[in-house]
Amino acid sequence: MLIPELSEPNRQALLQAARHAQQMAYAPYSHYQVGAAVLDEQGRTHAGCNVENAAYPEGLCAEAAALAAMVLAGGTHAQAVLVVGSGGNNNIGWTTPCGGCRQKMREFGGPDLPVLTANQDHTGPCYTLSQLLPESFGPDHLGQPAPMHRA
Ligand code: THU
Repeated sequence: MLIPELSEPNRQALLQAARHAQQMAYAPYSHYQVGAAVLDEQGRTHAGCNVENAAYPEGLCAEAAALAAMVLAGGTHAQAVLVVGSGGNNNIGWTTPCGGCRQKMREFGGPDLPVLTANQDHTGPCYTLSQLLPESFGPDHLGQPAPMHRA
């Protein structure tokens, strides 16, 4: 599947924002720090990090935090998402979004939404959202405009 073109300046902005966010992660329980960045429809970048909690299920993923930042700033849909974790080293798989975050992205991105991976040193594989979440359920099922058609 073809991944829509992401300009190099936009890719660099996402990478820098997500790498910085990873450094700010609050992960005292898992020690697994994640940063994420979302490029919105206006070309703005919004970052988030994971925020864990002593009541474990209350922890927040980096992607969810980045999407919340986008919504707070008035963004209506995502053009691209980049996730930075510790994966990609020593045969550990690249950090890809958890299932819940894939569904959260679906709210703000269509099947072709590019989802990029990286760690602090290298960039990893790029996927489309439909590769990560095939046959997904989204706003269109409820009669809402698809993310890429929102004003
Ligand atoms: N985590 C994320 O922030 N995003 C993901 O997509 C995968 C998992 C966080 C949640 C938890 O704080 C830590 O990584 C370990 O699961």
